[in-house]
Amino acid sequence: MARPHFPLRKTDFQRAWHAPGRADAAIIRTMKSFIYQNLPARVVFGAGSLAQLPREMDTLGAARALVLSTPEQRAWAERVAELLGARAAGIFDRAAMHVPIETAREAREVARQLGADCAVAIGGGSTTGLGKAIALDSGLPIVAIPTTYAGSEMTPIYGITEAGLKKTGRDPRVLPRTVIYDPELSLGLPVALSVTSGINAIAHAAEGLYAADANPITDLMAEDGIAALGRALPRIWAQPTDAEARADALYGAWLCGTVLGAVGMALHHKLCHTLGGSFNLPHAEVHTVVLPQAMAFNAAAAPEAMRRIERALGATGRASAAAGLFDLAHTNGAPVALKDIGMNEADLDRAAEIAVSNPYWNPRPFGAAQRGEIRDLLQRAYEGIRPD
Ligand SMILES: NC(=O)c1ccc[n+]([C@@H]2O[C@H](COP(=O)([O-])OP(=O)(O)OC[C@H]3O[C@@H](n4cnc5c(N)ncnc54)[C@H](O)[C@@H]3O)[C@@H](O)[C@H]2O)c1
Repeated sequence: MARPHFPLRKTDFQRAWHAPGRADAAIIRTMKSFIYQNLPARVVFGAGSLAQLPREMDTLGAARALVLSTPEQRAWAERVAELLGARAAGIFDRAAMHVPIETAREAREVARQLGADCAVAIGGGSTTGLGKAIALDSGLPIVAIPTTYAGSEMTPIYGITEAGLKKTGRDPRVLPRTVIYDPELSLGLPVALSVTSGINAIAHAAEGLYAADANPITDLMAEDGIAALGRALPRIWAQPTDAEARADALYGAWLCGTVLGAVGMALHHKLCHTLGGSFNLPHAEVHTVVLPQAMAFNAAAAPEAMRRIERALGATGRASAAAGLFDLAHTNGAPVALKDIGMNEADLDRAAEIAVSNPYWNPRPFGAAQRGEIRDLLQRAYEGIRPD
């Protein structure tokens, strides 16, 4: 099993902490004030760590698990149920993208009828999302076993879709209590989804670097998360069963998901929610296409974040953060144009209108006054133009 690469660079914060003195006091005074809220999750990481699930149930004090999966991953849920033996209360295998309210209600009812005292979600963001919908209603603890790089398992953010509208919110009850990261489970993740899912994770970290509530701790995680995925994705593209690269990617996804759970997101996530929610485009692919364009839009307003992204991608002096992210997608077979993932050019006006009508905070504002600039950004994303 590959050992994850932990950051050894000394930041101003670390220097000041380890050797306090006059000069260091000056460093401390020049540092921005911040609040860092640690979210309470237990992480079990390593190849083969799925086998630790029964022990983790003991640690949680749980005795009857409802196992969740998508229909496509039913066999995985069966494997988990077999591992749990008598402690598997049942399987619910109808997790679906964006958590339809009907599915959430059905799963809550099944959990209640079976007397489940925890939910074990094995799969990607859709399955974790279903677990969160159950927890939101019942407070049932979730054990998440992620098999993609989406990062939902590290956040207290939930989303439920009712009558075509996805409502999202934050609630500490939905944060999985235990996360088992077993890189062996992602060995078979289709290579195309591996690359787009990995860039979806990078998007959380990239926006985390310029978040209004960013702090030195989330910056460290963001930069190292991007670096881990930037190293791993080309290796996975070349050899999908490269165990070391899979471990590196999952480690990166963990860090990037932690950043998503800790700080606010901005323009890029707003655009992706608009395109995914109102135009039904596939989640990870939309993130992959939009990210370079959103970074180009924000570059001048967030130079330090761009410097860190370039350093993490090994692109310093060679390519901008935006171009480096475009190249990461393009050279590893991922889509770079909205026209290639189901967007109609005729809908770009409406997408720009929706995106600017209720904007998120962003280092470069994008309200109604910037509608034209956002429309231009979407045009470049539609055509797949490499940013400078
Ligand atoms: N709340 C949050 O913090 C948060 C964060 C990120 C994503 N999300 C949500 O998660 C959803 C997207 O999640 P996703 O991108 O992980 O996709 P997904 O969970 O929808 O999975 C896509 C497909 O891949 C399959 N799959 C997953 N892992 C596999 C593997 N290892 N091998 C083979 N097939 C596998 C799934 O069964 C499914 O059919 C969206 O609804 C998004 O909004 C939420």
